[in-house]
Amino acid sequence: MHALVVSGLRKVYEGSGRRVEAVRDLTFTVEAGELVCLVGPSGCGKTTLLKCMGGLLTPTGGEVRLAGEKVSGPPPGMAFVFQEYGRSLFPWMRVGENVELPLKQKGLSKARRRELVSDALESVGLADAAGAYPWQLSGGMQQRVAIARALAYEPQVLLMDEPFAAVDAQTRADLEDLVRGLWRERGITILFVTHDIDEAVYLGQRVIVLSASPTVVQEQLKVDLPDERDQLHTRVAPRFAELRTHVYEQIQSAKRGTPSLTKTDTPPPH
Ligand SMILES: Nc1ncnc2c1ncn2[C@@H]1O[C@H](COP(=O)(O)OP(=O)(O)OP(=O)(O)O)[C@@H](O)[C@H]1O
Ligand SMILES: [Mg+2]
Repeated sequence: MHALVVSGLRKVYEGSGRRVEAVRDLTFTVEAGELVCLVGPSGCGKTTLLKCMGGLLTPTGGEVRLAGEKVSGPPPGMAFVFQEYGRSLFPWMRVGENVELPLKQKGLSKARRRELVSDALESVGLADAAGAYPWQLSGGMQQRVAIARALAYEPQVLLMDEPFAAVDAQTRADLEDLVRGLWRERGITILFVTHDIDEAVYLGQRVIVLSASPTVVQEQLKVDLPDERDQLHTRVAPRFAELRTHVYEQIQSAKRGTPSLTKTDTPPPH
């Protein structure tokens, strides 16, 4: 059984005399334990898609299934890291309390919650920050807190919406490696949205390219790079360059609205 199935998903926003078809028709699957990156032009409906997947928005048509169950509200096994992390942490709560908050809904004992919070903060290199307030931390640290909060929840599926868009390049590289490391350690299923092509190829086992609005799946591409990746060597590998060029061309043709076949394959090596 697939971990996630998105079939015929459509979302139209209506209201205030405005009608926006954010997502026209999206169909794809994600396997358990897979790390899939989703790229697409700005405004093509990536956040809308994730919100539908996370049960935060009701689709206009089609459906999302998590482990076979139709999603109709936030599912218990799913965690989110939002695009705007600055707004996703509560400024009046300390870091440790922010990370602990979702665990309270799970009905875990205080001792178990403590353990999960300190494990998660340690995983993201913030063991010492539990007592600080979010606004006392840098942007990259705040984003690591948001990741820790998602991890402490022990999700089966983690949805990440352009989580590193607002941090500097060096922090971003570190956070990318952190996500890959955690994914490999914990076997979580991750769907990672980004508009950065290099990031998608560096992180993913597979890249799903979305078209410009009205949004459909433009292409799915298997990333046939070795699982052992590092910032220095992977990004200068000839295969990395081929894959990123291929995704870049797909996105350009998506922006031009050139129809392209939806296929799951990998460009042949030159
Ligand atoms: N609550 C809403 N009400 C009306 N329209 C909306 C709403 N949220 C998003 N939209 C519209 O839906 C479309 C897709 O928006 P969405 O935020 O999903 O795109 P995105 O791919 O995440 O963009 P970005 O790359 O900039 O984050 C846009 O045209 C946007 O204006
Ligand atoms: Mg978005």
